[in-house]
Amino acid sequence: MTVDIGSPLALPCGATLKNRLAKGAMTEGLGDPLNRATEGHVRLYKRWAEGGAGMLLTGNVQVDRRYLERPGNVAIDGPQSNEAIAALRAYARAGTENGTHLWMQISHAGRQTPASVNKEPVGPSDKALEMPGSQFGKPRPLTGVEIEDVIRRFAHAATIARDTGFTGVQIHGAHGYLISEFLSPDVNTRTDEWGGSLENRARLLLETVRAVRRAVGDDFPVSVKLNSADFQRGGFSHEDAIRVAAWLDAEKLDLLEISGGTYEQPRLVGLDDMTLHPEKAEVRRESTIAREAYFLEYAKDIRAAVKMPLMVTGGFRTVAGMNAALASGTMDLVGIARPLCVDPAIPGKLLSGAAAETPAYEKTLRLGPGILGPHSPINMLKALNGWGQQGWFCLQILRMGEGKNPDPKMGVFTAFRNYAKNEARAAAAMQR
Ligand SMILES: Cc1cc2nc3c(=O)[nH]c(=O)nc-3n(C[C@H](O)[C@H](O)[C@H](O)COP(=O)(O)O)c2cc1C
Repeated sequence: MTVDIGSPLALPCGATLKNRLAKGAMTEGLGDPLNRATEGHVRLYKRWAEGGAGMLLTGNVQVDRRYLERPGNVAIDGPQSNEAIAALRAYARAGTENGTHLWMQISHAGRQTPASVNKEPVGPSDKALEMPGSQFGKPRPLTGVEIEDVIRRFAHAATIARDTGFTGVQIHGAHGYLISEFLSPDVNTRTDEWGGSLENRARLLLETVRAVRRAVGDDFPVSVKLNSADFQRGGFSHEDAIRVAAWLDAEKLDLLEISGGTYEQPRLVGLDDMTLHPEKAEVRRESTIAREAYFLEYAKDIRAAVKMPLMVTGGFRTVAGMNAALASGTMDLVGIARPLCVDPAIPGKLLSGAAAETPAYEKTLRLGPGILGPHSPINMLKALNGWGQQGWFCLQILRMGEGKNPDPKMGVFTAFRNYAKNEARAAAAMQR
C-alpha cells in the first residue's frame, strides 16, 4: 500500500500519529517574564491543533533560564510552581485537541543565547559566533560537572512535559544550539571526554537521549532534531551526521528529524551564510537547492544507515512533493513550519484536497537573498534581511497568540523593526 500524507504513522514506543503532517518547532516568544506558558500558547496551539496536523512540535522550551534562545521562551528548570504547572496543563490540553499529538521540544541555547538575555553565554569552548554586530557574547566553556547538570536538566524538563499532558518530547540537537555546538569540531575544541573524536562530541547528545528515555519510560515518544550538516567548513559534516544517526538508531528513539544549519549558516530556512567570513560556508548540493525539500538528498543517506522513523523539515510546499517523498521510502513524516504562520489550517486543507500547496507568502519576503545574492559581502544588510524574515514569522505567531489572524501583507522591514521592539520589551520585562 502506498504511503501518503493521510496515512497514520505507528511509532516504535506504541503511539500512533493520525497522519504524516507534522508542524515543525517554531519559537513562540509567548512566555511571561517568569518564562511560564500563557494564555497565548493556549490560543495558538488550539488553533494549530484544529488545523489538522498529526503532530505539533512546540517551539524550543529551555532547560536553563540563564541561557534562553529568546526572552519570551518557556523555561522548565527546577521545581515548578503550581501556576507554572497549571499553565503547562492548559497548553497541553489545547494542543492535543482533535486527536493531535503535541511534543515539547527541549533545548539549551548555548552560545546562541542573545546578549540581551546573558552577556556571557556558555558553550563547549570559548569560540564566539562570527556574526556582524554584538548580539552574542563570548561563551564560557562548561565544566564537566556543568555538562552532567545539563543532561539532568533535559531529563527533568521531559518528565514535566510528560506529567503535564504533552504526548512526546524532542531533544533539540540541531541549529547551532548547545548540543549541536558539542557535535561541531569547529565550535567544540575540548580535549576531555566531551570533545575531540566524534564519539566524544556526540556524548552529550547520546547521554541526554538515554537520560530522557530513562525519565519518561519506554512508552512515551522521544525524538531528536539533528542537522544533516552544519554547512560550515570544519563544522559537523554530513558524514558525521550519518554516523551519529546510526548511533541514535541503536537507542530507543521514536523519530529523527533532519534539518541543517546554524545562526551563522541558516540553511534551515533556506538562507545562506551570515558570517563575517563567507568563504567558510559550505555550498549545498545543487540538486538539493533546486528541489522542494532541501534536505531530502541528505535524508536519503541517513535512511540508508537507520531503521527508525525519519521526519524531514525544510521547504516542503506541495502535496505532490510531500507524497513523492513519502512514497520513495526516504522519510516517514513531513515537517512544515513557516506555512503554518500564514495559514494555521493548511494541514487539513492539504489532507482533504482543498489545497494542493501551501500559501505563497514568499513573494513578500523576496528582499533578502534575492537582491543581495547568496555570497554578498554586505554582511550587515544580509543579517538585517535574515532577521527581518525571521521576525516576520515570529510576529505572525504573536498575532495568533493574541487571537488575531496572520497578516500576510506585512512588510519585511516593518517586521524587522517591530520584532526588534518586541524583543527589547520582553528582555526589559524579564530584568524587572
Ligand atoms: C519563526 C521560526 C521559529 C523557529 N523556531 C524553531 C525552534 O524553536 N526550534 C527548531 O528546531 N526550529 C525552529 N525553526 C525552524 C523550523 O522548525 C523549520 O526547521 C524551518 O522553518 C524549515 O521548515 P519550513 O520550510 O517548513 O518553514 C523556526 C523557524 C521559524 C521560521
